[in-house]
Amino acid sequence: MTKKPTTDALPKGAADTGRSLASQRENAFLGEDRRRAEWGRRLDGRRTVLEVRGVTKVYQLEGIEVHALCGVSVAIREGEMVAIMGPSGSGKSTLMHIIGLLDRPTSGVVSIEGEVVGDLTPNQLAGLRNQHIGFVFQSFNLLARTGAQANVELPLVYGGVSGSERARRAREALERVELGDRLNHTSGQLSGGQQQRVAIARALVTNPSIVLADEPTGNLDSRSGVEVMGILQDLNAQGITVVIVTHDANVARHARRIVELRDGEIVRDEPVPDRLDAHDEIIQLGMNTVGGVERARAAGDPA
Ligand SMILES: Nc1ncnc2c1ncn2[C@@H]1O[C@H](COP(=O)(O)OP(=O)(O)O)[C@@H](O)[C@H]1O
Ligand SMILES: [Mg+2]
Repeated sequence: MTKKPTTDALPKGAADTGRSLASQRENAFLGEDRRRAEWGRRLDGRRTVLEVRGVTKVYQLEGIEVHALCGVSVAIREGEMVAIMGPSGSGKSTLMHIIGLLDRPTSGVVSIEGEVVGDLTPNQLAGLRNQHIGFVFQSFNLLARTGAQANVELPLVYGGVSGSERARRAREALERVELGDRLNHTSGQLSGGQQQRVAIARALVTNPSIVLADEPTGNLDSRSGVEVMGILQDLNAQGITVVIVTHDANVARHARRIVELRDGEIVRDEPVPDRLDAHDEIIQLGMNTVGGVERARAAGDPA
């Protein structure tokens, strides 16, 4: 385990678009050097969409300084799927908020799409955020008595988009997360997994190139968690840059690259050698659960 690697010295995980188990197995058996070289080559020419350099964050809590980030540098390139992993309190959410322009660092440089954001006003930051980034949070953050479609339309309400166009785009986003048949369901009428999928649709409705998700599976049972990871993997396969924050090594293994934090420092930054494919897991889970077997039988599958 390397202490504080500079992101330039390490290959960035990405671009492994093949999702077959065979290719994953092959990947796992490639020599470490060769795998690193391949990652590096595949990333050649990809632009950096998000970057922090030497970022620190010090919170003041009742007169005591809390050093949440102690000099973090990381660059995320277009098309990557990166997991920021670490135990509770290691600084993951702080880093995500800074990368996502929701908060400013105490020191260090933050850029998005190559533009350093240090001198921008809050309004300018909000503009960049809305243009490029969709956020997904652990607790879904949906309006409780509002239907799915209306929740998904919300980010467009302030953007001067007409009502009919908002409705069309919200329905399209809900179809992308396979909830096209739940347009008027409120949170109480949806499972946790479905609520998180509505939240992902809300993140997608502005057509962002980047999705940042903070513990997106944290409030879900394992099957719903895998389904949510499957949606994030699909979005990444469609070219969206995905950053997920998680304390869970199994969740992180759905990404292409893991950046590990400990006490506000990066202690590991590596490609994932044995990436999990959520769709394969769903098939395996389905065969092992009563509901899944019943559904499979009903669909004419002899299993
Ligand atoms: N607003 C805040 N005020 C004071 N301390 C904070 C605040 N937010 C986070 N911290 C502290 O900063 C450290 C990192 O927190 P956080 O980024 O939330 O970690 P993680 O998401 O990995 O659990 C923790 O010690 C936490 O208690
Ligand atoms: Mg957190």
